[in-house]
Amino acid sequence: MIHSVDTYLETERLTLRRFTADDADLLIELDSDAAVMRYLSGGQPTAPEIVRERHLPNIIAGYERWRGDLGLFAAHEKDGGAFIGWFCLRPEPQGPLDEAELGYRLRQAAWGKGYATEGSRALLAKAFTGLGVRMVWAETMTVNHGSRNIMEKLAMTLADTIPTPPDMEIVEGSEHGGVRYEITKEQWEQQ
Ligand SMILES: CC(C)(COP(=O)(O)OP(=O)(O)OC[C@H]1O[C@@H](n2cnc3c(N)ncnc32)[C@H](O)[C@@H]1OP(=O)(O)O)[C@@H](O)C(=O)NCCC(=O)NCCS
Repeated sequence: MIHSVDTYLETERLTLRRFTADDADLLIELDSDAAVMRYLSGGQPTAPEIVRERHLPNIIAGYERWRGDLGLFAAHEKDGGAFIGWFCLRPEPQGPLDEAELGYRLRQAAWGKGYATEGSRALLAKAFTGLGVRMVWAETMTVNHGSRNIMEKLAMTLADTIPTPPDMEIVEGSEHGGVRYEITKEQWEQQ
């Protein structure tokens, strides 16, 4: 499928672009894999109507709110164009614009190739050099070692432990709570 690509960021192997209203099926398919959803919903897929009526409209509204600079972005392999999942770099809905959350959700077929690290590194660089961001944080479940490993490879540091939100108590390992990692612009510049 050919997209009229609205590119946000390029890395060596990936292109990140803004989502469009036509992308619901990509998100539905991504969230239908129990392995992808393991530490997010306990493996439950996201209902297609939730993606269509809530998630995708929110993503697109975010581009307006943050002028296309921040939000959630579709990632594709440059070689062949396959959709591999998404990355996000976004403030809290009502939060300051110089603090952004980093996140990632990749298709299982794309795991283990360093893509999450590569995309996240490029997002940190963009955040701190081009977008006026002062601090980036990321949160995950304590037991999500794959996700924590990426945060640690990015030189983010463990800042806090967080309680499990009530809607995630069904997830395996939720009794161990969550973790929050942070990196400031100064820390990023010093590595
Ligand atoms: C977590 C996720 C983004 C990792 O993506 P990825 O592209 O495979 O990550 P990378 O290849 O860049 O790096 C993975 C690193 O973590 C390691 N790793 C991967 N899975 C791991 C696991 N289950 N436990 C420990 N380490 C793991 C890899 O060995 C690699 O480390 P290395 O480079 O030091 O050898 C991907 O598995 C995913 O999308 N999972 C489902 C959604 C999710 O949980 N998102 C995070 C929610 S907070």
